[in-house]
Amino acid sequence: MQAGLAKLIGLAGETNVQGEEQKKLDVLSNEVFVKALTSSGRTSILVSEEDEEATFVEPSKRGKYCVVFDPLDGSSNIDCGVSIGTIFGIYMLKDGGEPTIDDVLQPGTNLVAAGYCMYGSSCMLVISTGSGVNGFTLDPSLGEFVLTHADIKIPTKGKIYSVNEGNAKNWDGPTTKYVEKCKFPTDGSSPKSLRYVGSMVADVHRTLLYGGIFLYPADKKSPDGKLRVLYEVFPMAYLLEQAGGQAFTGKQRALELIPEKIHDRSPIFLGSYDDVEEIKALYAAEQ
Ligand code: AHM
Ligand code: MG
Repeated sequence: MQAGLAKLIGLAGETNVQGEEQKKLDVLSNEVFVKALTSSGRTSILVSEEDEEATFVEPSKRGKYCVVFDPLDGSSNIDCGVSIGTIFGIYMLKDGGEPTIDDVLQPGTNLVAAGYCMYGSSCMLVISTGSGVNGFTLDPSLGEFVLTHADIKIPTKGKIYSVNEGNAKNWDGPTTKYVEKCKFPTDGSSPKSLRYVGSMVADVHRTLLYGGIFLYPADKKSPDGKLRVLYEVFPMAYLLEQAGGQAFTGKQRALELIPEKIHDRSPIFLGSYDDVEEIKALYAAEQ
């Protein structure tokens, strides 16, 4: 909340593993999460968007969980004060032996918990441990998160689509047809509204509460899309399913992907059940 005052906005002068410029707050938030998770004594492996390699916690501090996270998602919005967030997923070590990278290369269906924190007009923590989704709002005077959104369910159908339309010239057929249908419906329904913050946490949070669909599709320049499987696609797909929605990659249920590398990417379409059904039908018709 005080980044502008504390001179914490702007670039750190480094590029991360994805070749993206790191902001000061990217670097700082990564350090905070790595230190907190390591010293908790509950974790064995940490995967962060900001670190090329997974961090294996030293044996004396190890616990049974592995945490995959994007410490500060939506970095391009930091300097103009637009909502950003932290995304995380939690796995359990597969067996009692020595932790290996395979413990984090598990499908999203094996997550034991996932969530995000959104730093917006209020600070919210939205989390699922596999039996529904709950939202908590930070009360800064107490320093506590208060349950404000119990058992969140996404509307079955929504009136909003959310996508970076600047990439439209490189989209595939189904994505192009779907967005065309959002704008020029042929079934007598009203056109959908377009809302796109460019922070996944904010765009998914709105989708969860209001309904609709969020798309980060593949395109000719990025055949795997932009968003990372472990710490962007999986946690959000997990929350959406837990809230009664769906998450689809263009080929399959997103949570059933099996990542081969920790920074793998995937196209993603997630949101209201019926809206995702429509994009699934368009991909099925292409086969
Ligand atoms: P980041 O992890 O480097 O911040 O990138 C991820 C962000 C997401 O928050 C958002 O959905 C997406 O990138 C926006 O990308 P684009 O600017 O291409 O629309
Ligand atoms: Mg990110």
